[in-house]
Amino acid sequence: MSDIATYASRRVRLVQQMQRGIAVIPTAPEAVRNGDAHYPYRYDSHFHYLTGFEEPEAVLVLVASDVPQSILFCREKNMEREIWDGFRHGPDGARTAFGFDAAFPIAQLDDKLTELMGNQPALFHPLGAHAAWDDRILALRARVQAQARSGITAPNEIHDVRMLLDEMRLIKDAGELATMRRAASISAAAHVRAMRSARPGRMEYEIEAELMHEFRHSGAQAPAYAPIVAGGANACVLHYVNNDALLHDGDLLLIDAACEVDGYAADITRTFPVNGKFSAAQKDVYQIVLGAQAAAIAAARPGAHWNEPHDAALRVIAQGLLDLKLCSGSLDAVLESESYKRFYMHRTGHWLGRDVHDVGVYKLEGNWRPLQPGMTLTVEPGCYIRPADDVPQALWNIGIRIEDDVAITDQGCEVLTDAVPKTVAAIEELMRNA
Ligand code: GLY
Ligand code: MN
Ligand code: MN
Repeated sequence: MSDIATYASRRVRLVQQMQRGIAVIPTAPEAVRNGDAHYPYRYDSHFHYLTGFEEPEAVLVLVASDVPQSILFCREKNMEREIWDGFRHGPDGARTAFGFDAAFPIAQLDDKLTELMGNQPALFHPLGAHAAWDDRILALRARVQAQARSGITAPNEIHDVRMLLDEMRLIKDAGELATMRRAASISAAAHVRAMRSARPGRMEYEIEAELMHEFRHSGAQAPAYAPIVAGGANACVLHYVNNDALLHDGDLLLIDAACEVDGYAADITRTFPVNGKFSAAQKDVYQIVLGAQAAAIAAARPGAHWNEPHDAALRVIAQGLLDLKLCSGSLDAVLESESYKRFYMHRTGHWLGRDVHDVGVYKLEGNWRPLQPGMTLTVEPGCYIRPADDVPQALWNIGIRIEDDVAITDQGCEVLTDAVPKTVAAIEELMRNA
């Protein structure tokens, strides 16, 4: 978890980039699941990156001017509600604990914003993220415009503040990397636990329960995304989340699961045999995906462009598909025609951070952007073979993905998640001794 100085310095950096104007950055709304039950509350990633404040119904306002201001709007103290729902900082408590210049009750937001927006040249907001906020902000701007005869002007420019924040969040500082290492290591331990507990006759949800146990037992607040625990043919459904099928002898089990720690995600996939021993056909495909992943990790280094790891993985997978006779022609022809896409239809990775698919553009001025130290990404090639007349039966329903998280360093990359075995020998040994 970062300290208040870190959050404050992020606000200063954002204000410097705004140069002039006012930023309005709300946290996420609470969401009702049904009846009186809510989904577990998760703050907005941008808001939390700038504040560390975890309560709902809060808005950060930053004023970039000769005297910059950092203002929080939040819920008031309310002993009655606190008996039911728990502690609230209240504006005074939040100002002191989180280092804001000022803090006000959230009920005063509209009136205060109307004042603060007056004579500001530009408005920064997560434009388009929530229609209700867009409407509210524009209505407030209209209120400021209505004061024109008093000589007050409304912001003439509206910017999406995420353009600035996404770039800031793309490069992780030492504290963020430490938190990501912790999310990675708890998630890795969960995968090891899952491998140890898998066997024919178990249900997918029993293995999911082992993952969840490790996450919470180790202090992670939540899974970073819905876990995929996919036995046999289910592994060929990329976003399978039912996790309610029986695990069969002779099948593979693909698990894509990881936790979130203090607002940062990990993202790990491993694929292994339910009975602890790869068949010859499973091993053939597995080695191709593992080779592709090794090639992609080797290509994840500073100065390489975003797509180099994907290109490296693709060449290995395409050659593997030729060797398995699942594709035909030359390697270049397979790559050119994209015939590999029948078996490898997703990309080799994405940015990782506060969001499992984290923010940040992948191209700059039309070109894949260069990787830089502090960027964190996943490396996750796969191969998914559905039954078909032109596919040897031994390969049917083999779905394999191997996913690790890496941080770009000065020399290359640090694999944050390599505590989970991934060679055939290491997986078989771990499961033999389970
Ligand atoms: N678990 C989501 C992904 O791998 O992208
Ligand atoms: Mn991923
Ligand atoms: Mn994943």
